[in-house]
Amino acid sequence: MILMNRMSQIPSETSFFRDFQVFEGLRKQIFPELLRRNYQQRQLNIWSAACSRGQEAYSLAMLLYDAFPLMVHHWTLQILASDVSDEVLRQARSGIYSDLEVKRRLPPRLRERYFRRQGNDWVVCDEIRLMVQFRRLDLRQPLPPLPKMDLVLLRNLLIYFEVPERTHLLHQVAEVIKPQGYLVLGASETLTSSFEGFRPILRDETVFYQFCPLEDVV
Ligand SMILES: C[S@@+](CC[C@H](N)C(=O)[O-])C[C@H]1O[C@@H](n2cnc3c(N)ncnc32)[C@H](O)[C@@H]1O
Repeated sequence: MILMNRMSQIPSETSFFRDFQVFEGLRKQIFPELLRRNYQQRQLNIWSAACSRGQEAYSLAMLLYDAFPLMVHHWTLQILASDVSDEVLRQARSGIYSDLEVKRRLPPRLRERYFRRQGNDWVVCDEIRLMVQFRRLDLRQPLPPLPKMDLVLLRNLLIYFEVPERTHLLHQVAEVIKPQGYLVLGASETLTSSFEGFRPILRDETVFYQFCPLEDVV
């Protein structure tokens, strides 16, 4: 069943650890690199843009809590998750998921560790839930001031946008992403060479786009 978000008519289809290989690339390559790079400031900013019902942001939080616990406990970590739909954000904030949603791609080990049963549903534990701040943002509109991001996940939204909207949104992302920061798109989305500044880099069988502003290129 494809769930539609009534407001935008863009499907809100998502899951925990959607496209598992992306999370492997983050765990093995991108996060270790960002941790080395930000070691002095001890701060990491991540944005799950168009987060739908929150599974993507909670997957990031679980991955970090599981693989980099010292960083989670001793650094300033911000995971911002945004969507245009109040309906999906309500569920995301609640952290409550059906059996079907939880059993879809979430490894059982992580389900046992980070969820508890509530009737027929599952609830994300507080440690993970409190790592994510949800906010309503319409990516067709000018963005409010946001912290500079080390990593932006903008997956499975651009395919629904016309070219001018896509270009406008990517310019907005370029404004908030740090130089050398990373952008992740959906599996069927690519950036054409017409969008300068984002350089495709293959890590663990996944393409990540590294933001290299033109003034940084010699
Ligand atoms: C297909 S889901 C993608 C969810 C998640 N990023 C993933 O890949 O699993 C697309 C999401 O984009 C949201 N969306 C649609 N139009 C938007 C807009 N103008 N600004 C922000 N989010 C929007 C929808 O509400 C929906 O939750």
